[in-house]
Amino acid sequence: MTTPRWWQAGAVYQIYPRSYQDSNHDGIGDIPGIIQRLDYLKTLGVGAIWLSPFFKSPMADFGYDVADYCDVDPLFGTLADFDRLVTEAHARDIKIIIDYVPNHTSNQHPWFLESRQSRTNPKADWYIWRDPKPDGSLPNNWGSAFGGVAWTWDDQRGQYYFHQFAPEQPDLNWRNPEVKAAMLDVLRFWFQRGVDGFRMDVIWMIWKHPDMPDQPPLPKATPRGEHDIFNSQQHLYDWDYEGIHEIMREMRLLADEFGDTVLIGEIYLPLERWVRYYGTADEPELHLPFNFRLIELREWTADAVRQEIGLLEAAVPPHGYPNYVLNNHDQPRFPSRFGVQHTRTAAMLLLTLRGTPTLYQGEEIGMVNGIIAPHQVKDPQGINLGVEHTRDVARTPMQWDDSPHAGFSTVEPWLPVHPNYHTVNVAAQVAHPRSVYALYKALLSLRREHTAFSVGSLTLLDLAPEVVAYERRSDDERFMVVLNFSDKPLSVPLPTAGVKVLSTHPFTPNELIKDQLELWGNEGVILRAV
Ligand code: NOJ
Repeated sequence: MTTPRWWQAGAVYQIYPRSYQDSNHDGIGDIPGIIQRLDYLKTLGVGAIWLSPFFKSPMADFGYDVADYCDVDPLFGTLADFDRLVTEAHARDIKIIIDYVPNHTSNQHPWFLESRQSRTNPKADWYIWRDPKPDGSLPNNWGSAFGGVAWTWDDQRGQYYFHQFAPEQPDLNWRNPEVKAAMLDVLRFWFQRGVDGFRMDVIWMIWKHPDMPDQPPLPKATPRGEHDIFNSQQHLYDWDYEGIHEIMREMRLLADEFGDTVLIGEIYLPLERWVRYYGTADEPELHLPFNFRLIELREWTADAVRQEIGLLEAAVPPHGYPNYVLNNHDQPRFPSRFGVQHTRTAAMLLLTLRGTPTLYQGEEIGMVNGIIAPHQVKDPQGINLGVEHTRDVARTPMQWDDSPHAGFSTVEPWLPVHPNYHTVNVAAQVAHPRSVYALYKALLSLRREHTAFSVGSLTLLDLAPEVVAYERRSDDERFMVVLNFSDKPLSVPLPTAGVKVLSTHPFTPNELIKDQLELWGNEGVILRAV
């Protein structure tokens, strides 16, 4: 059996810096605030933190509009603060993964300011500029992910520029070798500063058809309102376009020069296209194309989850390693999406599957969607498409304790704290042995300590229709994970005897179960086969 890599045994913990910990009393989280919380993360037991963007930015998309890839926005601190974060995290054996936003810059990035000057300046071709069609209409029919069209007219240059997201986020022209070189240098800059890996924003979108033809409508489209062209058309020429894998390959070779690193790509694609981002055994690409399939399930049932595990196990090539995610800063939180009653079994699932688990801040205390009134919406997607589409619900401040503003800040935070913070907070849960936090901590420790849970094999077990069960096995250990997805108590036959190691519910450690396991409704149990 192989020794697990750090990103296989340890879990990745996503931090949305704006909402984690404010240290300078402006209602916005910052890097010194994250440093203050490193001991908490160490105790929780995560292997790495992934930081959403903290780079210089006008914040039109809260940092996913970068105006300088190689500097820290003053809101979040300084480069010296970042260096200190790297040193302090590494001293605690926590790796640092940062966000890389290659598809677009801010419209305030000096590259764009230069590019828009004229059709002949040195950076004229760094972005995607087009004339109107001869009849005066837009260059093509493509839509923006945040609603409306993907083209904005620039008076200065007298042309349209393309933006897959907000008008403040012009897409870079990756077909220009100078752009590619400059963007690969960004990876080098941060690797040299000590980061251990990158999470790559919308990586499957960066390479487009050179002529950008109109895209056909999507049969059975589910647009988010009348302004949603993006979800109403087939993305034949802007997503996963021929040639993208060569860039992935180049990025991987670059990352390999820096040793034991990880590249995680944000990719929403059908399984058979998604899996190609692992590359081949001889020419690997990303270590982990993010797998969002559990987030995207329509219903949280044993059947649906079992099927997903089977599909993923079958799809991921032998040189690759799976991964699973239940929450991030773009999606409604898991308990609000699928039901609070599933929070604990979902945690047990996420942390015992064969695949790198990525947690999102607050998940470990069972945070639910924030409550955002229409006038409080900050997210450009929510502003354009309506409050029901705002991602702000997943971005409300971390709930640390029951003091005013939940210990996140001493002043009114940029988004409202969820009113349940009086009971749902870190301090309360750390003190309570049966909290959601305590469960996450115990699961993280099991995963780190037993290779069976990281690089061990996974075999699905067919025990009962409402149950997801599997065996995890290393050379010398064998565990069974049994998760009851129904609200009702169940009695299920075990394939072999085992002792109880952990449960989502109160339990007797080391209790021997010979053949029939009794489960409470929504209970999950881990047993070590004996
Ligand atoms: C995906 C990011 O996760 C999201 O927050 C952002 O708005 C878009 N990419 C654009 O960068």
